Amino acid sequence: MTLAYAPGKVILFGEHAVVYGRPAIAVPVTEVQAQACIEPGVAGQGVVVVAPDLDRRVVVCEAADDEPLACIVRLTLETMGRERDPDLTVTITSTVPIARGMGSGAAVSTAIVRALAQHFHYWFPSRAISDLVYQTEVLYHGTPSGIDNTVVAFEKPIYFVKGVGWEVFWVGKPFWLAIADTGIKSSTREVVGDLRHGYQADPARYQPLFDRIGEIAVAARSAMEQGRTEALGQLMDENQALLREMGVSCPELDRLVMAAREGGAQGAKLSGAGRGGNIIALVAKETRGRVDMMLRLAGATNVIVTEVE
Ligand code: MEV
Repeated sequence: MTLAYAPGKVILFGEHAVVYGRPAIAVPVTEVQAQACIEPGVAGQGVVVVAPDLDRRVVVCEAADDEPLACIVRLTLETMGRERDPDLTVTITSTVPIARGMGSGAAVSTAIVRALAQHFHYWFPSRAISDLVYQTEVLYHGTPSGIDNTVVAFEKPIYFVKGVGWEVFWVGKPFWLAIADTGIKSSTREVVGDLRHGYQADPARYQPLFDRIGEIAVAARSAMEQGRTEALGQLMDENQALLREMGVSCPELDRLVMAAREGGAQGAKLSGAGRGGNIIALVAKETRGRVDMMLRLAGATNVIVTEVE
């Protein structure tokens, strides 16, 4: 039996604007993980991926080209130079919430690549894993920027600019984030698509919003590197105001953002595509219990507190 894992992620700054070439920052969330378990399969059946939690069973050799679980298995086997479909069962379990902006698809695909590589004693650099996983991200999300697969594969804070590259960077002073779930599914494909229509109809309205979000991401990176945590809260609040103006927030997200601030968070914003999914709030040791409680009272279906380091 071979086991491999991959974490979830949150975007700290720059979602949506990143699709239009502005910088963004994302961090891994190790409190939630996808797991892939490889065991011998049924002779002659090839690779079968099962996801018991989702009641899914995918026979890779019979699956359509755009089936993401089959796609990542095929791509990985091809890259490792294995032409014959091995008889294996790959079982997926995951605590990364689905469709909440926490990179669930990227985490599952990354865990599968890692498990297959381990099983066949093959070594992939993180960059190669990220590139493979990007191809399934396209199947899940349409036109993703590539930030999710990158942060999940590298498992470090990253500064990402689509089409240009990314840098792993170091946080000068660790800080805490509360991640609170609205309980509402967020479709990255739909929200990114809606925003694209808005942008195409009126680019002059959106360009300055994207520009300012990009500037916030640049300022946030230097604050994180220099350990100036107190500057981050204000940048999160400003980023949230711009996301609202872009029309990607929703009353449930706004309610959680307000509750976090009332609970003493230094700043809060939605994270990911929006119109559902999670908010993130900057908390301190002294405030995190109260923020957690306020978020739950305001309707959060789950709250995770994670350390960014
Ligand atoms: C989704 O997690 C983040 C977006 O910026 C889309 C993307 O970067 O692909 C909304």
